[in-house]
Amino acid sequence: ELSGYEYINISTPRPGVGLVTFNRPRALNALFTPLFRELNDALRKLDKDAEVGAVVLTGSEKAFAAGADIKEMKDKTFSDAYGDDFIELWSEMASAIKKPVISAVNGYALGGGCELAMMADIMYVSMGATLGQPEIKLGIIPGAGGSQRLTKAVGKSKAMELILTGNNFSGKEAEQWGLAAKAFQTPEECLEGAITTAERIASYSRIAVKAAKEVVNKSQDLGVREGVEYERRVFHGMFGSKDQKIGMAAFAAKQKPEWENA
Ligand code: HXC
Repeated sequence: ELSGYEYINISTPRPGVGLVTFNRPRALNALFTPLFRELNDALRKLDKDAEVGAVVLTGSEKAFAAGADIKEMKDKTFSDAYGDDFIELWSEMASAIKKPVISAVNGYALGGGCELAMMADIMYVSMGATLGQPEIKLGIIPGAGGSQRLTKAVGKSKAMELILTGNNFSGKEAEQWGLAAKAFQTPEECLEGAITTAERIASYSRIAVKAAKEVVNKSQDLGVREGVEYERRVFHGMFGSKDQKIGMAAFAAKQKPEWENA
């Protein structure tokens, strides 16, 4: 059990599911360095924990996260930002974590909060969630991948409109545009839905799940032909796993597979 964090809570709501809940209510979960140190530490531990098959990341009903902490950023100079690699800490979830992460987005997910939600492998939202990239209103631009991930998800024209106007959009719209995988009526249903999906993922072979996440993510960086070739190499590799034998033998014998995660 992971504990002792100040700005996040960790729990295990179902077998195989690690739940990370932002806990900085007075600042609407504004994201600052101490929170990211804790988040990265917890995600790395969950990623290594053999009991955990998938992670859910959420905030409160009022706010997933209202953005990067404006008060932490406001006096930074170029040298501070460049010299300290500001935002480098934020990229760990997308670059280092191999298990699937589902963001359950309720309330505000603005600026860096929206960007963090988009870094997750799957995004679930409640209809009434408020998302957006309002950085332009602060005299800056998205800095944690928003200009890239939002554009890949919704297309150039809509992303350009959202980023240049700073207009918010709803969870319902996020789902209609394909940014979110599902939209739920209420925050409770959104979190419950994310946990249920995480539990389902955790019931499969860890090896197959890891490979599936890896190949889908390659589609973001490679062209279709290279991506399909990459997929095939990894697919061939699956025949070296025990779980491929276990899964297919179980099907043929009309039994439930007992994964060895090997
Ligand atoms: C620091 C924040 C904050 C933020 C809210 N708070 N958002 N502090 N950084 N991003 C603080 C408020 O200052 C306030 O503190 C407390 O949280 C409650 O917020 P209120 O504004 O009183 O709540 P409410 O009236 O309900 O309005 C909610 C809100 C508003 C609409 C979400 O807080 C808001 O506009 N926040 C900023 C949203 C934003 O611009 N995000 C993008 C940031 S830039 P006190 O002490 O007064 O009680 C960004 C850059 C990313 O994310 C690029 C690199 C990662």
